[in-house]
Amino acid sequence: MNSPFSYNNVIEVTDLQRAFKQGDQEIKILRGIDLIVRRGEILALLGPSGAGKSTFLQAVGLLENGFTGSINILGQEIGSLNDKARTAVRRDHLGFVYQFHHLLPDFSALENVMLPQLIQGESPKKAKKHALFLLQSLKLEDRVKHYPSQLSGGEQQRVAVARALANRPALVLADEPTGNLDEATGDIVLHEFLRLVRRQGSAAIIATHNMAMARKMDRIVTLHDGRLIEEY
Ligand SMILES: Nc1ncnc2c1ncn2[C@@H]1O[C@H](COP(=O)(O)OP(=O)(O)OP(=O)(O)O)[C@@H](O)[C@H]1O
Ligand SMILES: [Mg+2]
Repeated sequence: MNSPFSYNNVIEVTDLQRAFKQGDQEIKILRGIDLIVRRGEILALLGPSGAGKSTFLQAVGLLENGFTGSINILGQEIGSLNDKARTAVRRDHLGFVYQFHHLLPDFSALENVMLPQLIQGESPKKAKKHALFLLQSLKLEDRVKHYPSQLSGGEQQRVAVARALANRPALVLADEPTGNLDEATGDIVLHEFLRLVRRQGSAAIIATHNMAMARKMDRIVTLHDGRLIEEY
């Protein structure tokens, strides 16, 4: 059986290492990370600034490949895949929310959430229906025709959340998704984000500095000195 649905572990990371060259020095940022995330599990990723949270999320999100070690997503060993196959894994199984939203400025909120679905081959009618559902869940039903420049920061970030969830990815990766919002707005967006992730059964790794929110997740892992420490 090679269907992605036959795997209980969404991602298995083994001995992940990442170093950056700085002049003639090599700075080791990730020093051997092991992590298993099960289907539907939501993890908070903590750690001080510079600990390597973004570096880690970029590696497991297949956004760069300067690491050593193994990443297995739904039974597929990423190191053995060519660029095209990696792109397919990213498109079909992963969703991203960044600290700054990266919405497409020339498309409306609705179109931004429809696009990933259309790229994956969904019909425009179904893509629109699902996008409207997500935007409605995030209380943006009156903003669907707005362009990003016509939305507040919190609204833009909610559109970005909807977009990341649009293809019902097995794993959502979020890098301080509310980091550029004020605390009250950030709490609301993160709360809605968690609710939707749970409802559609996605797993998630969410880098955050918000301890209160981290405690609402299933597990807390902390990056420290290049290693991942699990809090029980
Ligand atoms: N392309 C790069 N070249 C050199 N060093 C880098 C590069 N990218 C990241 N680093 C270094 O790796 C370390 C980890 O950076 P990273 O962005 O992963 O931290 P972070 O935990 O996400 O921090 P923050 O909470 O501030 O977002 C930093 O010291 C940074 O300077
Ligand atoms: Mg970061």
